Amino acid sequence: MTLSLPPSPHRFSEVECEAVYRAIAERRDMRHFLPDPVDPEVLQRLLWAAHQAPSVGYMQPWRFLRITDRALRQAIHCLVEEERQATARALGERGEEFLRLKVEGILEAAELFVVALAPGRERHVFGRRTLPEMDVASLACAIQNLWLAARAEGLGMGWVSLFDPQRLADLLRMPEGAKPLAVLCLGHVASFYPRPMLEEAHWASRRPPAEVFAENFWPLGVPGWEEDRGLASSR
Ligand SMILES: Cc1cc2nc3c(=O)[nH]c(=O)nc-3n(C[C@H](O)[C@H](O)[C@H](O)COP(=O)(O)O)c2cc1C
Repeated sequence: MTLSLPPSPHRFSEVECEAVYRAIAERRDMRHFLPDPVDPEVLQRLLWAAHQAPSVGYMQPWRFLRITDRALRQAIHCLVEEERQATARALGERGEEFLRLKVEGILEAAELFVVALAPGRERHVFGRRTLPEMDVASLACAIQNLWLAARAEGLGMGWVSLFDPQRLADLLRMPEGAKPLAVLCLGHVASFYPRPMLEEAHWASRRPPAEVFAENFWPLGVPGWEEDRGLASSR
């Protein structure tokens, strides 16, 4: 993307702007990692970035557990593997194709985090009275911050959501009401995939703009705006 920006006192410099767009364009969900350790100072910066995320009513529902115990990491991997097999069965005719995809790098990544929603979220009604799922949206914002910052630091990250949340919560001794939503694999990579890996594997492709952007009213009869029949949208 090339930028030509009119001057504004509020705008970042052209170089800074380009860096932001570059991080967005080149962030990838990574599943292949090198074993090299992550510099602790870089890790601190990444976690700082995550914690700067916006959140509904400023509730900051995210809780990050850094997994350093090898046996725990192995147990998390087992949970994910079980769910991977269950997902393949649920996918029916695309099950075999799904099993050929690499969907996590839990045992290889230098760092592993589990991100969970904190308990007691029902007390937060600001912005959630009619939309309680805004806690999930807020947690996702924190992960996206971390993801983009990691890319800027040259580190890869992968979000794994193939697990039974209650079993992962039990494994990590979470209290009632806490709910894990992400296993994050983070670390150095040999190179970043040039395109989403699911695109490379012909599992799905990015929807064209007309399928996701419209004006005023919900467009009728336009592909992408009709009922999403799951994988039917994949090409
Ligand atoms: C909420 C969420 C959950 C995801 N869960 C998984 C997962 O369990 N396994 C996996 O391989 N990728 C997972 N991904 C990554 C997506 O497959 C990936 O973002 C998508 O294919 C687009 O690729 P990109 O992130 O490289 O642009 C997840 C992404 C999100 C946002």
